[in-house]
Amino acid sequence: MTQKLAVFNMKGGVGKSTTAYNLAAGLVQFRDRKVLLVDIDPQGNSGAALGIPIWQLEKQLKDALQHKVPLSQIIIPTSEGVDVVPSNILLAEEEIPISGRPGRELLLRKVLASVQDQYDWVLIDCPPNIGVFSINALMAASGALIPVDMSYLGLLGIQGIERALTLVREHLDHPIRIAGVLATRFDGRNNLSKEVLQCLGDHFGEQMFKTVIPETVKLREAPSHGQSIFEYDPQGAGAKAYRALIEEVCQWQ
Ligand SMILES: Nc1ncnc2c1ncn2[C@@H]1O[C@H](COP(=O)(O)OP(=O)(O)OP(=O)(O)O)[C@@H](O)[C@H]1O
Ligand SMILES: [Mg+2]
Repeated sequence: MTQKLAVFNMKGGVGKSTTAYNLAAGLVQFRDRKVLLVDIDPQGNSGAALGIPIWQLEKQLKDALQHKVPLSQIIIPTSEGVDVVPSNILLAEEEIPISGRPGRELLLRKVLASVQDQYDWVLIDCPPNIGVFSINALMAASGALIPVDMSYLGLLGIQGIERALTLVREHLDHPIRIAGVLATRFDGRNNLSKEVLQCLGDHFGEQMFKTVIPETVKLREAPSHGQSIFEYDPQGAGAKAYRALIEEVCQWQ
């Protein structure tokens, strides 16, 4: 069965795209899985990080959401074996028209139905808000993977995340589960990182991934080479952490 995860947090810069694209690449490289990475963020970061020229797209996710092009014609294979449905800023121009359409929350779920059987995993990279695109991602997914950065504001954002998930469960009647909460951008030299990690663990308990993603310059540099961390710095701490995350994610049912 296809596993569908939305990488979601309303806070920006927490490592959603970094997690989505490295997880996708690692599932292909180490687990030999077929993976579709769907970028539903107008910033286009997860596609760009895998080397897709996002400013020269002939077709993109918005064309499928508008029923202009079948999703199968939008998918771009990448050198690391991940299939990507890319986006760029033009997706943002569709936010208001899409928001006015009946069934607006289910557009992504419906277009994915035509291709998902070809994949073991579908990973959806969300924008940093709880607008119509994030709701579409959560409605299309069975689980939410929630990266939280090691900051006070990251911790403060948890209530908002939980409220968003409750909205999806209770008002939109979709039983989305938390696939796991991922501590990101951890800096062991810094007390705040340790305190935030402790608070997250106290709050989420077993829902926390055991893997902690360290703050490393290699994770920041890799997108400029269009490479996952496994290609760019395979022996480094970032690759090691994301590889451990893959093992944990694969246990999720
Ligand atoms: N563990 C890390 N170590 C160092 N830099 C990181 C790490 N994780 C992410 N970054 C960098 O921080 C920035 C934000 O990360 P990323 O784009 O993954 O976050 P995001 O949650 O997707 O952001 P947005 O909400 O804007 O979509 C990027 O420049 C990225 O390369
Ligand atoms: Mg992002």
